[in-house]
Amino acid sequence: MTGNDIRYLFEPRCVAVIGASSDPKKIGYIIIDNIISSGYEGPVHPVNPKGGQILDRKVHTSISDIDGPVDLATITVPAQFVMDAVKDCARKGVKYISIITSGFSEIGNHEEEQALVHVARENGMHILGPNIFGIYSAKAKMNATFGPKGIMPGHVSIVTQSGALGIAMIGKTKSERIGLSSIVSMGNKCDVDEAEVLDYLIEDDDTKVILMYIEGIKDGEAFVHKLKEATKIKPIVVLKSGRSKRGAMAAASHTGSLAGADEVFSDVMRQCGVLRAESIQDALNWCKYLANSVPPKGNNCIIVTNGGGIGVLAADACEKYGVDLSDDIETMKATFADVVPCFGSVKNPVDITGGASLQDYESSLDVAIDNDNIDSIICLGCETATIASGSLDETIRRVYSRGKVEKPMVFSFFGGSEIEGNCEKLRSDGIPIYTDVYEAVSCLGALYNTWKHSSRKGNGTEDPGVDLVCVNKVIDEVLADGRNFLLAHEAKLVMDAAGIAMPKSFIAADLKQTIEAAEAIGYPVVMKIVSKDIVHKSDAGGVALDLQSRHEVMDAYEAIMHSCRRYAPKAKIEGVEVVEMVRMDVETIVGARIDPSFGPVVMFGLGGIYVEVMKDVSFRSYPIDRSEAMKMVSDIRSYPLLLGVRGEGKKDICKVLDCILKVGHLIKNVPTITDIEINPLVVYEEGDGARALDARILVSPKKEVSS
Ligand code: ACO
Repeated sequence: MTGNDIRYLFEPRCVAVIGASSDPKKIGYIIIDNIISSGYEGPVHPVNPKGGQILDRKVHTSISDIDGPVDLATITVPAQFVMDAVKDCARKGVKYISIITSGFSEIGNHEEEQALVHVARENGMHILGPNIFGIYSAKAKMNATFGPKGIMPGHVSIVTQSGALGIAMIGKTKSERIGLSSIVSMGNKCDVDEAEVLDYLIEDDDTKVILMYIEGIKDGEAFVHKLKEATKIKPIVVLKSGRSKRGAMAAASHTGSLAGADEVFSDVMRQCGVLRAESIQDALNWCKYLANSVPPKGNNCIIVTNGGGIGVLAADACEKYGVDLSDDIETMKATFADVVPCFGSVKNPVDITGGASLQDYESSLDVAIDNDNIDSIICLGCETATIASGSLDETIRRVYSRGKVEKPMVFSFFGGSEIEGNCEKLRSDGIPIYTDVYEAVSCLGALYNTWKHSSRKGNGTEDPGVDLVCVNKVIDEVLADGRNFLLAHEAKLVMDAAGIAMPKSFIAADLKQTIEAAEAIGYPVVMKIVSKDIVHKSDAGGVALDLQSRHEVMDAYEAIMHSCRRYAPKAKIEGVEVVEMVRMDVETIVGARIDPSFGPVVMFGLGGIYVEVMKDVSFRSYPIDRSEAMKMVSDIRSYPLLLGVRGEGKKDICKVLDCILKVGHLIKNVPTITDIEINPLVVYEEGDGARALDARILVSPKKEVSS
């Protein structure tokens, strides 16, 4: 192990408990008791100035009295004594400290918490917590928590920010027969955070699945990086609370207001290949299934059912959870012709009919298990007299134990108390059987999502071709002018430097120049007010569209000046921008911002004036490669519009991807840009490109989040 190795936390060679107590009701007693009774094989040292004995262990009056090094010290003294205990640990050369005590940043006591971090860092120590219930590690046979005893060792690791939920999970996982490889309470995360814990769990052979309960993220960029690395190796399931819209309300742009914390979180998790569960039950079901199933070898899933209705429900669930049903009719016929009655169906879902006996199930499942063109199996049943008369329990056990080594399988049987009892018994013995077909399919979906993500190959980052020197020069001038937003012509300079096509335009200071500009561009043209004091141009009556002639230009010029002076009498008007009127096509929005949690984030969606009503957008943490940008584009509900509808040709998606990568490059590499929004980005048919009709760019001398 190296000096800062996180293994000292999970596999300490020696532990101490500062605040150990002989009172069995106190946390300082319960933790010692738990460590000893979980079978920890290293030395356990209680520390309490009173001395004496606790559970036959000598109590040291100070941690410095302990012979030999201490890797992990758990602190269970009241908050006002924690600093002294941390300093004692520093003198002793402790590696990791687990601070159970509450009363720090969670109640606003940030200073004291930071002071603890300071002492720890100065002395090469690391702090888990404070405000936690502790850590359990199956590898170390160490339950250093004040949760229940008798944790079942296994292959799921839980990392939780909620203490109460985490403690409850210890009990719940046991009753669901889910074995744990570790459980870590994160609490206030003053020092050790999820990314560091993942460092250990990625490497830990005992951990097959990681379940995280998250309330907030501190260093989102590092976390995303770690998640991407981790999900290539093992599945991660996340439960997150707090679907708050607070961040969005304070935001200064569409990109901001569309980027509700929860939407960004969901999309970024998907980007990282993390499975986000909506409920605790889903999370536990998935973890158990992922820890026990073999991975699929391919996409071809089949459904075997005795009822058409439940088969259709399962097919719907497959679509929802991303399970691909095989439509290889030849394989289906060849496999099932001999075992399905002629009045059944050998098409997927395979209907072995309501009269099917358990023997019929067994025959159909056997041939499906043996066929290499079938990669996974969903077996469904509705209660019938023929099923009830046999031993469902035995049949499922037999089929599952044969099939589970070959390919992923899930079962769902629906009916009365007898069927339910059977399902419960089988499930408690580790067989993935559910009374709700959606629950069964969601487990298989979780497995497929993980498998598809881990086998996905990116196509590498590319240089999106942005002249950053030119961009920085434009922005330096804006900042020197004391503004935090770019005027239209400045935004156009940035777009030009990024190679994002905008319509031809000129700034005109008076009516004469306006007419000259319109004639140089060619009719029709658009006219927009130019004023540092008018940000929302349409609201001020500062925009005129589709001007077809010199006369219309003259009238529009007067109308714009009149309305803007009424709207903002003190505004300094610099002139108008005369812009080529481009033909319209599919209107999209491309944006980028510095997200409070994840740092640089890019957005793509359906654009135009209804963007906030439709909220048809997707987000990604930047950097992304072209294939991820493509996934982002195809994620939105309106994606078919880009494929062309009602005889239209396919749109120039390639140019959309270019644009996303370019705005991402800008937000990541120009330290002064906080928000970029292109709306609309009009996308024409393939080969005709895309045009940014409006670009809003917000800047700040020091990059800071915009919500
Ligand atoms: N060194 C060693 N031992 C000390 C020291 C010291 N410097 N100072 C005091 N002690 C001893 C005390 O004498 C006492 O031992 P005793 O029973 O022999 O007298 C022991 O440390 C504990 O001190 P108490 O004052 O009795 O404190 P108590 O056990 O009541 O509470 C605790 C301490 C548990 C840390 C409390 O302050 C606290 O923070 N509770 C909340 C914990 C929590 O909920 N954490 C979040 C978990 S997650 C969730 O939400 C479920």
